Amino acid sequence: MKQLPESLQHKLQQRKQNNALRNLSFSGDLIDFASNDYLGFAHSSAIFNKTHQLLLDRNIKINGATGSRLLSGNHAIYHETEDFISHFHQSESALIFNSGYDANLGFFSAVPQRNDLILFDELCHASIRDGIQLSNAKSYKFEHNDLEDLERLIQRFRTEHSQNPKNEIYIVTETVFSMDGDCPELDNLVELSEKYNCNLVVDEAHSLGVFGEKGEGLIQSLGLQSKIFAQIITFGKGLGCHGAAVLGSRELKEYLVNFARSFIYTTGLSPHSVATILVAYQNLETEDKIIQKLRENIVYFNQEKSLLGLKPMFVRSKSAIQSAIIPGNERVKSIAKQIQANGFDVKPILSPTVPEGQERLRICLHSYNSKEEISALMHRIYSLL
Ligand SMILES: Cc1ncc(COP(=O)(O)O)c(C=O)c1O
Repeated sequence: MKQLPESLQHKLQQRKQNNALRNLSFSGDLIDFASNDYLGFAHSSAIFNKTHQLLLDRNIKINGATGSRLLSGNHAIYHETEDFISHFHQSESALIFNSGYDANLGFFSAVPQRNDLILFDELCHASIRDGIQLSNAKSYKFEHNDLEDLERLIQRFRTEHSQNPKNEIYIVTETVFSMDGDCPELDNLVELSEKYNCNLVVDEAHSLGVFGEKGEGLIQSLGLQSKIFAQIITFGKGLGCHGAAVLGSRELKEYLVNFARSFIYTTGLSPHSVATILVAYQNLETEDKIIQKLRENIVYFNQEKSLLGLKPMFVRSKSAIQSAIIPGNERVKSIAKQIQANGFDVKPILSPTVPEGQERLRICLHSYNSKEEISALMHRIYSLL
């Protein structure tokens, strides 16, 4: 087989030297504090069986979509699911993408135009940043959750472009940051966005299933849905399946169907995957006890953090993602390994995924973690520091 070019071999070598080489591993039978399956939906036999039954009842016996949704890949189940989702989220429309990565890539590469401005939180997910890179608009990052820094950038742009008031500003953030678990002050952000007539775009990947009475997400739990230009929701986390959707106006949906390349030039999700999304949503509507259990576990985790004096090392978080900062790839990897040896699946997050010095243990909480498991994990972390 032809060898990897020398320059790429060198890059791999550097990764190894920095203790930052990524590789594919299995988690085995460890207690799950690593997956994004916050509500246990990925392992729900009820969802699995209901989906199977739904496909049989509708006589949907097809293994793949067979093409882009604009050609042969559009199926009735897509429309039914998009209607359900838009109704659930009190949005005018929902457009399903194959993944959150695709949704962000499609949205940001297509919507902001040349002469527009994108202002994004410096900790926004890679899929958002990759989408922004494909855009013709100018972009700047603002300091994490820092609304003063954001306002300064907005004012500068508005002054520089005072002759062209039609140039749009897109403000981009997440409701739960994927590596930190913290949230922006959404009320204030909406206020700022309205003050300067900006378009607020919010990624709710880690908030669906976690916030809101029925897991609707943080935006709806604060009643802000009508003030957001676009919401990106993903189904591979709290919903335990696969795919994503962009929520927004009907015109936004029509625009994305016409211009979002990651929507147009790809095979649609299989009808089976879409049926799973629909059933997972129906499950959200009835499973408020599971959502409640997750919330109780988040509160319990935070109490344990305080009791053991571990609060200062953790990023402040009321979400299912809890991050303990342990600087240095080698150190955080070694601590994670020792925790894993005690039966807990906890993953180290290394630089360059996070900035150097900000390496961390990323702990994901679930409805199905017991209080005893949480307690035992926290005591183990305490003993290793
Ligand atoms: C904030 C955020 N947005 C988008 C994505 C991408 O979603 P998906 O896994 O569906 O591609 C992720 C996944 O890690 C994420 O954390």
